[in-house]
Amino acid sequence: MKALKQGEILVTGGTGYIGSHTVVELQNNGYEVIILDNLSNSNIKVVDQIKSITGIAPGFVKLDLRDKTELFHFIKSNPDLTGVIHFAASKSVGESVKNPLLYYDNNISTLVNLLNALKDRQVNFVFSSSCTVYGEPDFLPVTEDAAVKTAESPYGNTKQIGEEILRETAGATDNLKVVALRYFNPVGAHSSALIGELPIGIPQNLVPFVMQTAIGKRKELIIFGDNYDTTDGSCIRDFIHVVDLAKAHVAAIKRMEAGKMDLAYEVFNVGTGKGYSVIELINTFENITGIKLNYQVGPPRNGDIVKIWGDVSKAEKELNWKAENGLNNMLESAWAWENYIYKNAF
Ligand code: NAD
Ligand code: UD1
Repeated sequence: MKALKQGEILVTGGTGYIGSHTVVELQNNGYEVIILDNLSNSNIKVVDQIKSITGIAPGFVKLDLRDKTELFHFIKSNPDLTGVIHFAASKSVGESVKNPLLYYDNNISTLVNLLNALKDRQVNFVFSSSCTVYGEPDFLPVTEDAAVKTAESPYGNTKQIGEEILRETAGATDNLKVVALRYFNPVGAHSSALIGELPIGIPQNLVPFVMQTAIGKRKELIIFGDNYDTTDGSCIRDFIHVVDLAKAHVAAIKRMEAGKMDLAYEVFNVGTGKGYSVIELINTFENITGIKLNYQVGPPRNGDIVKIWGDVSKAEKELNWKAENGLNNMLESAWAWENYIYKNAF
């Protein structure tokens, strides 16, 4: 397949959690980056934080991907874009159940708008998908060709629909190459502790809740069930350091640039290939910090997956990428970031 030379990369949602870490890794690899974000779930200060880490200020445009006119104008005025990494989306499972249309609008309409705006351009495109598409897998570790299950939530459905839209669109044109990355559970923060996850309101995910409980922002953590069919009864996940995840995006862009894709649309699992239980994660956090976490076991959460971890051999082989950080690094960096937020009122 024809390759595109290294050029400017547009990062939608680039001030968000995974996006900001990816901008850093792109800059470390010599890419010029423009962030597009409407700041609905992130803070403009992140742009300066990125500059403090890399010494380079990324471009930034405040734009809502639902605004077609502005988006088309922006794409038209940036003719040097060769790659797009598309993170921008809403990501709360609970909110999506209460307000499905918000999710179809903000996650699907925006993807269609972006693809339409890029229609006549040759572009390498990376999509943020999720292991949520596998539901409760029939076998472990789960491989990319495992069945995609009926989504548990409108949020999960937007990832499945997003993948289909991209597969069909890439198949219908010579201009577009797509890599969909199915993330497992991203946790942790940059080693500088200058960027990390910034949950707005009460965190829904495990690690931010652990951190906020340990620092005293939350009274106690509830473990959602300890009677599952697992070693210690709590659920099992494939936690991946956000910096490793960020590097997988750079690897995907490089694969497309080098013209190495077998198909115009490819999918990769991005995890560590190893599962840890919720209780193991809490024990690890207590061991590395010496903090006794205030927690108790509560009822299971509706729709929770019992155990999932990924087969990551395809990414290792084809993307030449492998996660380097273990659970200790993930939790140490998340804790350093929590302390930074606390001290700096970020
Ligand atoms: P995040 O909320 O931190 O980042 C998303 C960014 O997109 C935010 O900065 C937000 O302001 C922006 N945004 C949202 N809607 C927008 C719009 N209409 N126009 C412009 N900008 C908009 O989320 P994240 O954790 O960094 O996740 C990034 C992507 O990865 C999302 O697509 C998410 O669904 C996917 N994902 C995340 C996880 C996870 O656990 N964090 C797991 C799997 C997949
Ligand atoms: C979440 C999303 C999923 C997304 C995935 C990837 C939900 C329901 N699903 O799943 O769509 O693709 O992240 O990162 O949000 N836990 C507790 N107590 C808490 C919080 C969590 O015990 O206060 C447990 C959960 O039961 C689960 C594990 O911790 O077993 C991880 O939970 P979470 O961080 O919410 O991630 P996922 O459930 O994997």
